Parts: sequence; structure tokens; C-alpha cells
Amino acid sequence: MNYIGIDLGTSAVKLLLVDGEGKILRSVSRGYPLSFPQPGWSEQDPADWWNACLDGMKELLAGTDASLAAGIGVGGQMHGLVALDENDAVIRPAILWNDGRTAEETEWLNTAVGKRKLSDLTANIAFAGFTAPKLLWMKKHEPENFRRIAKIMLPKDYINYRLTGVHSCDYSDASGMLLLDVKNRRWSAEMMEICGVTNDQMPRLFESYEVIGCVKPEIASALGLSGSVRVVAGAGDNAAAAVGTGTVGDGACNISLGTSGTVFISSARFGVDPSNGLHAFAHADGAYHLMGCMLSAASCNKWLCEEILKTKDYAAEQAGITDDRLGANNVFFLPYLMGERSPINDTNARGTFIGTTMATSRTALVQAVLEGVAFAIRDSFEVAKSLGIRIERSKICGGGAKSPLWRRIMANVLNLPLDLPQTEEGPGYGGAMLAMVGCGAFDSVQQAAGELVHVTRTVYPEPELAERYEAAYRHFQKIYPAVKDLFRELQQTRG
Ligand code: XUL
Repeated sequence: MNYIGIDLGTSAVKLLLVDGEGKILRSVSRGYPLSFPQPGWSEQDPADWWNACLDGMKELLAGTDASLAAGIGVGGQMHGLVALDENDAVIRPAILWNDGRTAEETEWLNTAVGKRKLSDLTANIAFAGFTAPKLLWMKKHEPENFRRIAKIMLPKDYINYRLTGVHSCDYSDASGMLLLDVKNRRWSAEMMEICGVTNDQMPRLFESYEVIGCVKPEIASALGLSGSVRVVAGAGDNAAAAVGTGTVGDGACNISLGTSGTVFISSARFGVDPSNGLHAFAHADGAYHLMGCMLSAASCNKWLCEEILKTKDYAAEQAGITDDRLGANNVFFLPYLMGERSPINDTNARGTFIGTTMATSRTALVQAVLEGVAFAIRDSFEVAKSLGIRIERSKICGGGAKSPLWRRIMANVLNLPLDLPQTEEGPGYGGAMLAMVGCGAFDSVQQAAGELVHVTRTVYPEPELAERYEAAYRHFQKIYPAVKDLFRELQQTRG
């Protein structure tokens, strides 16, 4: 049998057709627009996601025996608010995970309700990108729209709904709504009340590998699928990527260098970071994880290359970054192009180059961006270290992980061996693996990971280079505290 894994990302959807042995038979990608209606806002039209998924599936299955497809699993961008009315029509464009409009609501939740209470109820505090502050924003700024909400969904749940007609959500993705009692895996009645929503408006909760339903007959026949293709609940993209890279069970780590950058630490037991710098979420393997999320990672490189340098040839831009330059750059970059979540939680923070001179080259700026992202990822590792978590090695996946140079910089900045699984398509592959478990091909997510995920290469830190980067990181750590107040002042006076 074959399985379809879908990664509903921020810039594109990627679809994989995987056989029963875990071999990727085909992959297809379809882009869609992302709109920034105001500075710091970020929206997408759920119809674009669905059309891209449907078209993508047609292309993925073309020329194959589509009747062999047994299951579908979706991993999707987290936290986005998709609001449906009583006819299941989308009320307004989805407000995404990297949208910073909810600074006021986030502040209200963290102060008026209080971080302590939020953490007791949901294991997390409020961050601007989370779903609950978005509901409060909509209630205040779009009361008409808010009143019409019949169902609240997350992005991948909208795809699952279009495929099956079932309103579902899995625990890993639900964790990022600030409406889930993560420890006990149920919606928090108190949080729903705080946000002005009721249980009827919430989707039904499932484990990621549980089947929510079958593909609707009209879609199955349009795609040439058999009548009983099962759809599993799927997962937030980071939990799906963790599954796809074999980051399951206790103490395993994965770094994802996608539009966002994340550090994902799987855990057999529920645990909360007392500083709430790291999110405490449910994992798609049935257990838990801690996660640090930076809002702009590979997207910083994309921004510099495509928007500023007007090139898509990333490799050519990196070619000038020779060995002697590594760890010796005078230019530093704060990668806060959309504000920042982990660990600084600051919607006012902005991207910043510091240290340029008349001698600074284009190459030095590109290098500073790659290094700035690595340093910001290291910030989340430092929080984990402060909790006594010892990470000996990590997997790495996502578009940024395709660059050998960026992987090398990451390994040396973190001073950690980085394992590359056979595919860097973490969430899509994880989605397919969850579908395999849902269809009974494996007894558990752990078993699927053990049998299907193979490390093909490891990037080791180089002691001298790691030492140079250690010194550079000490400088990097001082930059944000030095400009933090200025970011707030600029936001207040210039927006
Ligand atoms: C995680 C997060 C991002 C999105 C991006 O908390 O906000 O990683 O899931 O897809």
C-alpha cells in the first residue's frame, strides 16, 4: 500500500507519496500567497491551501495506481486561526502563527489572567502567535465575525475537514492554541471561558495517529482513490517533523530550519519550563515535548537573497563564505524580522545588522544572516541547558538544512553533532508515517520511526571552529539586551 504525507507550510504545501517500506516514490510542491496587510500581520486564505493540496494530490497520483493509496496524514503550520461559520464557510483570512497583531491581548492574558494561572491551565503562557490571543483580538476588533464563529480550526485541520467532513484536531497542534489542558489532553473549560468560546465551537480531539474518517466519496473519485482511504488526525508541523526525523521517545532532539526555526525536545513525561521560554506541548507519539520557536529562520536568508539582493541563487551567495571567514565575521545579525517568540517573547524586536564598515561585503551580510539564525537557535538550547536537559546530538531538517554550509555553521555554533535523516522533508514524511500507524502498518509511532527513519550523514563540530563561534555567541548574546528598549520605543513612535 501507499501513503500520502502532506506538509502544509507557510510558503508552500509539500506532498509525498510513500510506499509501505517508507520509500518516497514522488514529491510535489505547490506555493500560495502570504499577505502582510499591515506591518507585523500575516494572513493566508484557507481556500488557497485546499486548492494547492487538491491540485498537488492530483499531480502526485498522476500515472500511479491511486487505488493503492491507503492513508493520508497532514502536518501543518501551527497556531493559525481558521474560523468557520455555521455553514462551515471560512469567515475571514486565517491569522497565522507569525502574526504579531495581538501584542495587547497577549499582554492582557499574561498580566490580567497571569502567567502562573495560564501555565497551570495550559502548561504555557501567551505568545502573540498563539490562537487564544487571536480569538480575543477578533472579539474586540471584528465582533461581527467573532459572533459568527461556529467552529475554530487550525490550518491542517481545515484540510482534514475538507477531505473528510470531520472537525478534528490532534493534541500536538491543539497545544499551541492556549486552550488545551496539555497535561490532561482535554480542552480547558476555564480558557474557553476567558476567550469567550464554548466546547461546541471546538473541534474533536484525537491522537495524531488516530483515524478521524475516510476521504469523502466525491474527492476520492476525483482523485481515483479507493473508497476507504483513511485520514489520520495528523500533527502540528514540528511534531510531524519530529516523527519524520525519528525524534520520538525520551530526550531526542530535532532542529527544523524552515520559515520558522525550532528546537524540539521529545519527552516521555509531561514537564513545564518554569521560565516558560520553551513551550510545553503534547507530542504526536502520544507523549510530550518542549519546544523553542524562532519566527524567522530560513525566511531571513530568503528575505536577504530574494528581497534585498534580488537573487534566488542561494548557493552562489554562500560560495564566497570560505573557511577562513567562519567564526571571524565582524558583522552580526538579529533575525527578528517578524518580532520574536522563543525565548525573548518580544513582538517589538526587529531584524538588525550591527558591526558593518566600509569594508563589509555582500558575502559578510549573507554570512551574518546564517550565523544570526544559528545563534538564535542556540538561545533556545541555552534555556534547555538551564533546565538541566543534556542534549548530546540532534537531527536537523527543513529547507535550510539543505545547505551544507548552514549545517556546518549550526553544528559549530551549537557544538553538537547533527544527524541528517534520509529526507529533510520532516513534516510530510512524518505525516505519511502517522498515516501508516493509523492504517495498522505499525503498532506505534515509535515502531514506525525505529524501522523507517535512517540517518545518512552526521555533521560533527570542529573543535577550533566551535571555539571561535563560542566567542562570537558571547558577543551575539549582548546585542538584543542593548537594543531591546529602543525596539519598544521605535514601535511606539513609528509603528
Ligand atoms: C511553532 C510555530 C511554527 C509554525 C510554522 O510554534 O509557530 O514552527 O508551526 O510552521
